[in-house]
Amino acid sequence: MSFINSPVFNRVIVPISFTASLFGGVFLLREYTGGRKCPSNDRMDGKVVLITGANTGIGKETAKEIAKRGAVVILGCRHMGKCAATAVEIRNVSQNKNVKCHFIDLANLDSVTEFVKEIKNEQQHIDVLVNNAGVMKPRSPKTTPNTDDGFERQFGVNHLGHFLLTNLLLDQLTNGESPGRVINVTSDAYQKGKVDIDDIEKNELKGDNRLTELYYQSKLANVLFTKVLSDRSRENLKKRVTCNCVNPGVAHTGIGRHANVPFYSVGVHMFKPLTWMAMRTPRQAAQTSIYLACDSALANVTGAYFDDCKKVEDTKDMCDGVVAEKLWKASEEWTNLNQRMSQLRETAKSGAPQNIGPACNNSTTS
Ligand SMILES: NC(=O)c1ccc[n+]([C@@H]2O[C@H](COP(=O)([O-])OP(=O)(O)OC[C@H]3O[C@@H](n4cnc5c(N)ncnc54)[C@H](OP(=O)(O)O)[C@@H]3O)[C@@H](O)[C@H]2O)c1
Ligand SMILES: *[C@@H]1O[C@H](CO)[C@@H](O)[C@H](O)[C@H]1NC(C)=O
Ligand SMILES: *[C@@H]1O[C@H](CO)[C@@H](O)[C@H](O)[C@H]1NC(C)=O
Ligand SMILES: *[C@@H]1O[C@H](CO)[C@@H](O)[C@H](O)[C@H]1NC(C)=O
Ligand SMILES: *[C@@H]1O[C@H](CO)[C@@H](O)[C@H](O)[C@H]1NC(C)=O
Repeated sequence: MSFINSPVFNRVIVPISFTASLFGGVFLLREYTGGRKCPSNDRMDGKVVLITGANTGIGKETAKEIAKRGAVVILGCRHMGKCAATAVEIRNVSQNKNVKCHFIDLANLDSVTEFVKEIKNEQQHIDVLVNNAGVMKPRSPKTTPNTDDGFERQFGVNHLGHFLLTNLLLDQLTNGESPGRVINVTSDAYQKGKVDIDDIEKNELKGDNRLTELYYQSKLANVLFTKVLSDRSRENLKKRVTCNCVNPGVAHTGIGRHANVPFYSVGVHMFKPLTWMAMRTPRQAAQTSIYLACDSALANVTGAYFDDCKKVEDTKDMCDGVVAEKLWKASEEWTNLNQRMSQLRETAKSGAPQNIGPACNNSTTS
């Protein structure tokens, strides 16, 4: 009797090797889906970094790592209880005392303006702004479908709130030693997006399938914004600010919790093994944001799209100049940008015109 047919082989060796290959396979898949770790070890001492939606998920992991690298970290959140708890945790793991909380509700443009006022009083410069907060299909009974200013919530939070925030912070972003960095957390779902200004103005929802479409639209708006801002600041080098997009990849965060999914919390637990295998952890998903925030070699890189800690070519004509420009102009109006800017400037009594030059021009990344 050969060894292959022996009971020992069948009962012991086969199950062991089967189990081992299963674990090996799962491990390889996990490695593959997990993505790369931030390849830079650069410290961030003396830098001031502001992260929106930092109390959980990808934003929290980004904040943690940046705190470990020595920066002053400001968590911009809408629930101060959650924010304070996160700050305690981050101070503890990072041994960095300079982790601060500030209230911001990106679904309320007045709140965004108040937030900027506070930051301007507190900080001379902001070196990195991570526009991370976001909602996806927010329709749980606790969530109103529109923002306080009457915009569809995904467009309002993912795009408009951050549009206003970034523009109002431009002075602070250009006050640092090197160009301020704006990092926009978007999603590769932007490729399916279509920005329709008239449609946004009508603000009609027309059923739940529209929600997916509107999420894509808000994420494409992020990409278009990034393009226009980087082109404008490139044209006027005195306004030194870079702006890049990040695709974090698919991660198991709580982003689904605001959606109207029946039995969401049960489902989350049932599918845990699957999501663990196929999706990134929030920590893994944060790596590209961290890389863009800290790596000194990226000081002058702007208008680019980053995935898995690498600059990738745009797979869609990301800068349809006409749409991008239309969206920018409309966003200026919708947010009352100029009026808010002059109000802020009156309170701060400091000068420097903030118009940072001409339009998006289909230019590719430098
Ligand atoms: N997870 C993914 O697979 C994935 C994929 C592609 C892109 N992204 C993008 O990654 C970013 C982070 O998402 P995540 O997965 O980490 O989601 P998350 O765990 O739900 O975190 C989102 C954060 O945004 C905050 N937020 C939501 N509405 C806000 C508002 N009106 N004002 C201020 N903060 C608000 C949330 O605060 P509360 O805790 O108070 O709600 C939370 O801190 C988003 O821009 C998302 O679109 C995620
Ligand atoms: C602080 O961190 C230690 C380990 O680093 C952990 O054991 C402890 O529970 C943490 N405390 C808080 C309040 O997070
Ligand atoms: C960025 O540009 C500035 C000004 O041109 C230059 O001094 C600096 O070395 C550049 N940094 C990098 C990392 O390319
Ligand atoms: C941008 O380039 C694309 C082709 O790459 C072109 O179709 C489009 O018209 C251009 N937009 C502007 C504003 O030049
Ligand atoms: C657009 O780019 C072309 C060259 O590619 C340049 O001649 C033109 O002045 C630019 N227009 C704007 C508005 O920047």
